[in-house]
Amino acid sequence: MHSSPLPSLPSLTTSAAFLALQDHCTEAKNWHLRDLFASAPTRFETMSMQAAGLFLDYSKNRLNQKTLQLLCNLARERQVEAKRDAMFAGEKINLTEHRAVLHTALRAPRNQAFVLDGQDINHDVHAVLDQIKAFSEKVRSGAWRGYSGKAITDIVNIGIGGSDLGPKMAHSALREFAHPNLNFHFVSNIDGHDVDATLAKVDPESTLFIIASKTFTTQDTMLNAHSTRNWFLRHADGDTSKLAQHFVAISSNQAEIQRFGIDPKNMFVFWDWVGGRYSVWSAIGLSIAIMIGFEAFSAFLAGAHAMDVHFQTAPLESNMPILLALIGLWNRNFLGYASLFVAPYHQDLRRLPAYLQQLEMESNGKSVANDGRQVNYPTCPILWGEAGSNNQHAYFQLLHQGGDIIPVDFIAVLKPSHHLPQHHTALLANCFAQSEAFMRGKNAQEVHDELQQQGVSEQEISKFLPHKIFAGNRPSNTLLMDALTPITLGALLALYEHKTMVQGVLWGINSFDQYGVELGKQLAKNIQMELEAQAHTERHDSSTNGLIARAKASLHTNTIK
Ligand code: F6P
Repeated sequence: MHSSPLPSLPSLTTSAAFLALQDHCTEAKNWHLRDLFASAPTRFETMSMQAAGLFLDYSKNRLNQKTLQLLCNLARERQVEAKRDAMFAGEKINLTEHRAVLHTALRAPRNQAFVLDGQDINHDVHAVLDQIKAFSEKVRSGAWRGYSGKAITDIVNIGIGGSDLGPKMAHSALREFAHPNLNFHFVSNIDGHDVDATLAKVDPESTLFIIASKTFTTQDTMLNAHSTRNWFLRHADGDTSKLAQHFVAISSNQAEIQRFGIDPKNMFVFWDWVGGRYSVWSAIGLSIAIMIGFEAFSAFLAGAHAMDVHFQTAPLESNMPILLALIGLWNRNFLGYASLFVAPYHQDLRRLPAYLQQLEMESNGKSVANDGRQVNYPTCPILWGEAGSNNQHAYFQLLHQGGDIIPVDFIAVLKPSHHLPQHHTALLANCFAQSEAFMRGKNAQEVHDELQQQGVSEQEISKFLPHKIFAGNRPSNTLLMDALTPITLGALLALYEHKTMVQGVLWGINSFDQYGVELGKQLAKNIQMELEAQAHTERHDSSTNGLIARAKASLHTNTIK
């Protein structure tokens, strides 16, 4: 446990380990993955590992054992292990907001002490879990009734960002475990089309609304919550006493929940030491608990906890989140790859890339170091993705033959939950074939021989040959899990959380604030007032003024062209 702040470190690019990696990279840049595999027959065995029910193959990256050793030296030099321990020990590692980062406490077993400011918070965490258990069981069993006596049939989660993406992603990922008679909906967008379309589908007498917002001040969520409340009251004869059976709230801001008019008994609290994008394990997961039941929700937490234990105890060289983080840094800062593609080969994980986008990009999309200096190296890559095999028929062309090299994280599940074995072998075959194709490519000789075998003339071959070459040498990781269950999903999300934290430490930035989202919010307030006012004022640049004027002309004449 560290009771005093760790000494500040020199800039990343001046550290000895970084310079050694830079040196090593001048050589590594000339390697081809094909040759690395050819020269080391045990590459797969030595560059793969298992932890918390997940298997990681990182052998298809452009690195060798020396690279890994140098990367681990860098992790040591950047004090990754000490900073990890500081996070678990409840130190205020979110320096700009002066907050601890203790989402790991949310998935710790009962009675495992987690100390914050001298107090054990495990009791508070489990008190809320008990509340979630009792409430979710009432809704699932039909004991919780709407104002007219009907059982709940529909649950609408109203939240955005971390108060939406986790539950929404888990809703599709854990579809197989869902209660058969309950329907779930997610309203997030400030765009009225979102809430409007959802309310059109539900019956106010049998719908439960969960207002999920850490701050309870987020404009998008509060607008959606108020519009929903008004809609509900229109159907409930304006009787506010009926709200209690239909509205619950999850937040760290109890005062605001009360102001909204939600019965204090229907409040599920969490704390400022849980970041929004790390909050799926908190009461924000209430809709997940209702959907899959509390036992399965506990398994989801246990899966994440197993990854926490691995992260805390495994040596650097065989620590899955640390390795993933280091490989990502190698790709970003030495090989110069600016984006990361996440390809889940499981339809139910299709929302995972959006979840990981917030996790990684809101955490590490920063260019000012903890000491306030501008960093002189790239940080978080752009994360994007789509489920396989849809991705292959849309933009994999660019990943195979485009001018940019884009590393890929493949995620596959070995046992499907359907009974269509041929689909599953085809899916896995496509997943493995893609990583092989990215790695090997197809060289001129291979293209030539193939065309010749097909009887194509030499003249035609020389015309088309360049178009059919694949350079290969494109890196990827492959993560495998036996089955997609609450446990493995929990472990997978915790893996990426810790990878994100470690990369933040390596880059010397604070992964736990998000000031970058503030400016747009601030400007939108003024522009909204200008849009709503009758008089037209010109306070901005000519583009913004022009757009406001055009919108006003349309809004105030109420015509749709
Ligand atoms: O605007 C960004 C953000 O603050 C995210 O970090 C957060 O997950 C989201 O908005 C929602 O915030 P809240 O849960 O406070 O409504």
